[in-house]
Amino acid sequence: MPNSFVESLFSLSGQTAVVIGGTGVLGGALCEGLAQAGAHVVVAGRSRERGEERVRAIAALGGSAVYEEVDATSRESLSSLRDRVAAARGAIDILVNCAGVNSATPYEKISDEDWDRVIDTNLKATHWGCQLFAPQMASQPEGGSILNIGSVTSHLPLSRVFAYSASKAAVVNLSKNVAREFAQRKVRVNTLCPGFFPAEQNRKILDKDRVANIMGQTPMARFGEPQELIGAMLLLCSRQAGSFITGAEIYVDGGFTGNRF
Ligand SMILES: NC(=O)c1ccc[n+]([C@@H]2O[C@H](COP(=O)([O-])OP(=O)(O)OC[C@H]3O[C@@H](n4cnc5c(N)ncnc54)[C@H](O)[C@@H]3O)[C@@H](O)[C@H]2O)c1
Repeated sequence: MPNSFVESLFSLSGQTAVVIGGTGVLGGALCEGLAQAGAHVVVAGRSRERGEERVRAIAALGGSAVYEEVDATSRESLSSLRDRVAAARGAIDILVNCAGVNSATPYEKISDEDWDRVIDTNLKATHWGCQLFAPQMASQPEGGSILNIGSVTSHLPLSRVFAYSASKAAVVNLSKNVAREFAQRKVRVNTLCPGFFPAEQNRKILDKDRVANIMGQTPMARFGEPQELIGAMLLLCSRQAGSFITGAEIYVDGGFTGNRF
């Protein structure tokens, strides 16, 4: 029996969601979740092949999506994405800033180039996403919702990923600050902090010792499945269910951070 109460809380029907980095493993699952909740999804990224593959997967689920090219490390590229989507759809209801890169290096050996690559993609691109999309959302009658992607390392320093940890700590701080700034302009800003999910950006980092270490510190003793992020995302992004939630972060991590604060 369809449950209209749950539907009224979580349905994204008629809304437009942009997922920057929707070409990736976690971004792809979030795109599918948004589409299954009824949103038209703009899968944005720098790989047409992967983006179009995701669009086909969404169509196979009965959802609606298009691919749009974007380089998250370019203000002009993000600004053009926003303008194209706003012109085509009339409004942008949801933005998920999900592009991300990682790098594992002993501290003394981090190059400036590597540091900048990680900070530019994970932090500066998130800032640009907020700075460029939040005013557009604030100009719309229904406002909008921005979801930034943190990590368990937003609060806990993880070994060997110094720039990554610093970027993700800053993403939570930035999200709270932008949330306060736009709180009275109908734009909510929250952070989703995943635990450990095998993906492209961390494939090389997850060696045998690190995996053993992670499992030893994850009460559920397993990796997450990308689809397990969808429930928390819908809560934070939904206009109805999340109406009074802003500046918050939710950890989806099998208990990793649970007893460490
Ligand atoms: N996988 C995990 O365990 C985990 C844990 C915590 C947080 N995260 C975060 O989740 C997000 C998604 O990562 P993922 O694990 O799915 O990795 P992923 O490598 O599968 O996806 C990242 C995506 O970002 C895209 N991207 C990178 N730079 C870009 C740019 N300049 N412009 C446009 N797109 C760009 C990549 O092409 C890729 O499609 C990242 O922010 C990551 O830091 C992942």
